[in-house]
Amino acid sequence: MKIVLASNNKHKIEEIKQMLNNQEILTLKDIGYTEEIEETGKTFLENALIKARTISKFLTKKSLYYPVIADDSGLCVEALNGEPGVYSARYSGTHENDEANRLKLLNVMKNITNRKAYFQCVIVEYFPDKTYKIGDGKTYGNITTTKIGNDSFGYDCLFLSDDLQKTFGEASSEEKNHVSHRYRALKSLLNQTSILKDDDN
Ligand code: IMP
Repeated sequence: MKIVLASNNKHKIEEIKQMLNNQEILTLKDIGYTEEIEETGKTFLENALIKARTISKFLTKKSLYYPVIADDSGLCVEALNGEPGVYSARYSGTHENDEANRLKLLNVMKNITNRKAYFQCVIVEYFPDKTYKIGDGKTYGNITTTKIGNDSFGYDCLFLSDDLQKTFGEASSEEKNHVSHRYRALKSLLNQTSILKDDDN
């Protein structure tokens, strides 16, 4: 069974592909979807649904009836009342500028001693009949005061994982994938029995 993953983020695609190793995953590139999807929601769930709905409509127009998986995720810092949260990708103002986002976070937290934070991921599996299932996952840790490890994805090198006792930037992809918010969200999705109906057209 083919599933479409509503993301262009190569790190996310790799992580989710590794976790769903028996499924045939198509990316947005594979289905020829090139537009930017505006994340106008105020919660991770709203944004995941916006992405899933958009891609499902696109597929239906092409008479392709595949389920769509879409996620929205971010970093929530306790001392910043959950910021950057849904704005994690554009915290510094520029969409997906990871280095600028990291510098802003380090700067904002310069004098803050409570460094507790978690990553959250909400993932939706959306079906052609406009029903969907939700999975939700979190992973806890602390924000470091400087970059530690590989800085290739988001806030990985600033997140000292409680589970791994090292930053996600230092961890191998296998280590991260066993404790990550995305892994936990996906697991919760696969165990989800409640099916909801999308009333939004
Ligand atoms: P999304 O693509 O709208 O879900 O944006 C998520 C943003 O949150 C990313 O651009 C990263 O800045 C951050 N983020 C989410 N998950 C991770 C992760 O596993 N590691 C590092 N940063 C992440």
